[in-house]
Amino acid sequence: MADSSVLHIWGGHRLQGHVKISGAKNSALAIMAGSLLCSGDCRIHNVPLLVDVERMGQVLSALGVRLQRHGDILDINASDLTSSKAPYELVTQLRASFFAIGPILARLGVAQMPLPGGCAIGARPVDLHVRGLQAMGAEVQVEHGICNAYVPGSSRRLQGAKIYLDIPSVGATETLMMAATLAEGETIIENAAREPEVVDLANFCIAMGAKIHGAGTSKISIQGVSKLHSTEYTIIPDRIEAGTFLVVGAITRSDLMLSPVAPEHLVPVIAKLRDIGVTVIEEAPDCLHVLPAERLIATDIETLPHPGFPTDMQAPFMALLSIAEGDSVINETVFENRLRHASELNRLGADIRVKGNTAFVRGVPMLSGAPVIGTDLRAAAALVVAGLAANGKTTIQGLHYLDRGYDRLDFKLQQLGAKIQRVKGSVLDSQETGSITNSEPSIVPKK
Ligand code: EPZ
Repeated sequence: MADSSVLHIWGGHRLQGHVKISGAKNSALAIMAGSLLCSGDCRIHNVPLLVDVERMGQVLSALGVRLQRHGDILDINASDLTSSKAPYELVTQLRASFFAIGPILARLGVAQMPLPGGCAIGARPVDLHVRGLQAMGAEVQVEHGICNAYVPGSSRRLQGAKIYLDIPSVGATETLMMAATLAEGETIIENAAREPEVVDLANFCIAMGAKIHGAGTSKISIQGVSKLHSTEYTIIPDRIEAGTFLVVGAITRSDLMLSPVAPEHLVPVIAKLRDIGVTVIEEAPDCLHVLPAERLIATDIETLPHPGFPTDMQAPFMALLSIAEGDSVINETVFENRLRHASELNRLGADIRVKGNTAFVRGVPMLSGAPVIGTDLRAAAALVVAGLAANGKTTIQGLHYLDRGYDRLDFKLQQLGAKIQRVKGSVLDSQETGSITNSEPSIVPKK
């Protein structure tokens, strides 16, 4: 995806129609790592078209995994792993690929995994992953940016352990749960993450024959088995994409239908929208209907691990609250640097002050279009949301972030009637240059 592409949005228009929600990015990435546990064929359905999925596919290919994509179906065969060393430049671009250290260690007894490093939203350490693997008997040394892990002893097999996570880390829960599926004996993970994507990964592993109980609660127990078998699995809908489209409907005062969704994954998001005055109706078990609100009312938000309000929805909600009546306080407790979109929203006329991990949002009657830059995936989404409501033209850079986490977002918005164009080529020329392209990212993993 060319980084110099920009999005032009002419805001202030109501949208309407039905939007199809894609498979969950954070499930797809974890499940792709989980497929390493299986020495056979796995067929995954409802895989979103995302740059991050493409990158994860490249990491798996480098390990000797065979992948083939047909539309939203991904066929994976990890029977012949030819390497335990993930490529440095790929892992540093995709934090989720680090989670593969669990399955690789479980399958091969050895793994060399580059540290994912920090990103725009924080330092993103992996100490909980490493300490958990050490508790399971792995020797782990970090040198030259590489996490070198191996399982000593003739069996080279990880041992079940009791693990307590200081933080209910999604990634650490997933890494350790995957590693434990093939370990000797029982592993208990206390203070585990409860996100729906953790449950989705657990269900995928169970479909391959893993013995996992308690996924979705803060205590997960895994009974190790010797081998996992082939399976076919369908990924859950992306609750963050769905939440983002609910916010799009709310901020543009539109009447939108979204499906498929899992409303039970969106309880804190729907509750907050209702606090703000937005009507969200469950039209069917997998369909949500968002209706125009008379008024948007300020409210406070604190991000928390699931089932609290999701940190990935914080930026889009900040955009929505920037035009609500009254003052809102947003406290970001999960990541240490995830409020950078506030300054870009202020370029659009918002009135937001940031002190530490708290943003004070004073609602304004209207935003006005301007050139802005996305600083991370959900920040870029927040700018799209704001641009759809702003008066005049907004130009957004940083689409490489957007394409990592949203499956053809601008294309889906165009289908709802949004005045939005993706333009390749020069970034901020007043006249549009280059060709107008749809948002079809390039194909996913090679064979
Ligand atoms: C996952 O990241 C998601 N990514 C993130 O989504 C999401 O924001 C995050 O969970 C929280 O829900 C994927 O699933 C691929 P964490 P992850 O470990 O696992 C600290 C998006 O926009 N921590 O739950 O990396 C960490 O620094 C992305 O889709 C440690 O200190 O998040 C953070 O402050 C962004 N040590 C907190 O825990 C560790 O070993 C929560 O992070 C691990 C984490």
